[in-house]
Parts: sequence; structure tokens; C-alpha cells
Amino acid sequence: MRSYLFVPGDSEKKLDRALSAGADALIVDLEDSVAPGEKARGREVAAAFLARAAGEAGRPRLLVRVNALDTDLIGADLDAVMPGAPDGIVLPKAAGGHDVAHLAAMIAVREAEYGLADGGTTILAIATETAKGIFALGTYPGASHRLRGLAWGGEDLSADIGAEANRDEAGAYTEPYRLARSLTLFGAAAAEIDAIDSVYTAFRDTDGLAAECRAARRDGFVAKLAIHPAQVPVINAAFTPSPEEVARARAIVDAFAADPGAGVVAIEGEMIDMPHLKRARRVLARAG
Ligand code: COA
Ligand code: MG
Repeated sequence: MRSYLFVPGDSEKKLDRALSAGADALIVDLEDSVAPGEKARGREVAAAFLARAAGEAGRPRLLVRVNALDTDLIGADLDAVMPGAPDGIVLPKAAGGHDVAHLAAMIAVREAEYGLADGGTTILAIATETAKGIFALGTYPGASHRLRGLAWGGEDLSADIGAEANRDEAGAYTEPYRLARSLTLFGAAAAEIDAIDSVYTAFRDTDGLAAECRAARRDGFVAKLAIHPAQVPVINAAFTPSPEEVARARAIVDAFAADPGAGVVAIEGEMIDMPHLKRARRVLARAG
């Protein structure tokens, strides 16, 4: 999973278009991109889309972002979309492992009600949208076997803390958002799940997006959220290991396999030990 494309859940046109955008996953959104007065219609459109898209050959994974746990909308959201057997549910404004466990229980009830495989629906949490969420980033380990990733976001967080902006004059994230981003990496690694980078809202600026993808990958993110189809190829390219990286990872894994007792080996004049082996295995897993 490299790219997750958000699609407003009440837009039939965008939903259909998104299917061929090349994203690894779509996030059919019932939350912020659907206006309060459109929530009921959004659920119907999203449910019809899931039914229509489920059988498409080579389709992306289909996730649904429901409204937050502290709204009175999430129950009806799940009732509407779970019969369509989405691959996963995205939880906005998550404030820790307790929220994920709560959502997992709500999903489990619907899986039973609608005859779906027990435990088949995954969860992805957007974990930095509130100040409370920031303090809970270390609480995801063991929350639920459904939890596959933590994503961070700086837009709702700036609203929550009353900031005027989340980037400086040069376009770089300011300190509070850099902290949120870093803690997401640590929180995801601690829970042994994917760290997913935030959206890049200037969707016409593909150079800026590519630079942000490179920085994300360098730091340990394995995927990025997208809001526009044009962002998908940039993200996919950035998060696909290059043939050179795959070859190097393969060489590291092979070197240790050839010498099972070794704790350290030398490859092309560089010391390679256990952290490198761990990283190499990850590269190979990502390369499929
Ligand atoms: N998914 C699928 N299709 C999309 C899309 C998306 N996220 N964003 C744009 N498109 C489609 C447009 O409908 C348009 O289709 P058309 O050529 O058939 O008319 C085409 O791509 C080109 O779009 P463009 O004109 O460049 O952008 P726009 O002004 O129509 O839309 C946004 C801009 C930001 C409103 C739109 O990209 C969007 O809705 N993004 C998702 C927002 C969201 O879900 N936010 C929640 C998470 S932060
Ligand atoms: Mg939001």
C-alpha cells in the first residue's frame, strides 16, 4: 500500500473516476468532505459505490472514512457501508488505542450481522487531528489486530490548537506539526504497523508533492494520503523501491543467509548488521 486516494463519498462522478486513478487504496469519505446536510445521501452513494466496485477486476482496496466516535453519525455510517464489505474503515480524530478498540467492537457486531468474515475488516487511524490524539500516540500497540496503519494530519490539528497556519513562509511545516509527524512514525513503529504521511493540499504542485514524498520515505513512512488523482502516480513512484534498492536489499539478505552465524557482514566496503538486515527485509516486502 503506497497511495490512499480520498474521494468525497457523496460524489458519484469522483468515485467512478477514482477507480481508475491507479491508487493502491481509495478512502471513500463520509467525514469532512461531505457537508452536514449531505451525510445521509453520502452514505447511500457510498454504499451503492461499494456494491458496484466490489467485483471490478484489479480494483484498489476500498476503505471508508466514517465520522468520528464522538459524533452521533458513526453508527449510521457503519450500518450503511458494512453490508458492502469494505476492506477497511478509516477512523478520523482517533485519540489512542482505546478508540481503535471501540471501533473494532462496532465493526465486529456488523460483521456478524451482515455475514462477513470475522475480523476481515481492517482499521486505519488518523491519529494527530486533535491535541488529545498527540498525547495518545504511544497507546496503539495491542489495540486491535485490525489496525494496519497510523496516518497523521495537520489541518484539523491546527484548528484544534488555534494556530493561524501550519506551514512557515518557506512552505515547511512548523514545529507543532513536525512533532506530530515524528510521533506518528514512532507510534506506528511501536505498534508494528504502517506509518502513512499526511495529505499535500496544493494538488497542482507535483514537484512539492514529490519532495514531500522523498522526505517521508527517508524518515520511514511507507505510504501517503492523496486528495487528487494527479497525485497518485507521484506517490506510487516515490514509495516503490527502485531496482537498485531491491538489488541491494537482496544482497544484504543473501549475505546473512549465506552466513547464518554472522552478526555483521561487509558489503562493498560498508558494515552491515542487524538494523540493515531488518531494513532490507522491509524493502523486499514492500517490493512484493
Ligand atoms: N477522486 C476522484 N476524482 C477526482 C478527485 C478525487 N479525489 N479530485 C478530482 N477529481 C476529478 C474531478 O472530478 C475532475 O473530473 P472531470 O475531469 O471528470 O471533471 C478531475 O478529477 C480533475 O479535477 P480538477 O478540476 O483538477 O479538481 P477539482 O477542482 O474538480 O477538485 C478538489 C479539487 C480538491 C475539490 C478534489 O480534488 C477533491 O474533492 N478532493 C478530495 C477531497 C477530500 O476527500 N478531502 C478529504 C480528505 S482531506
Ligand atoms: Mg479532517
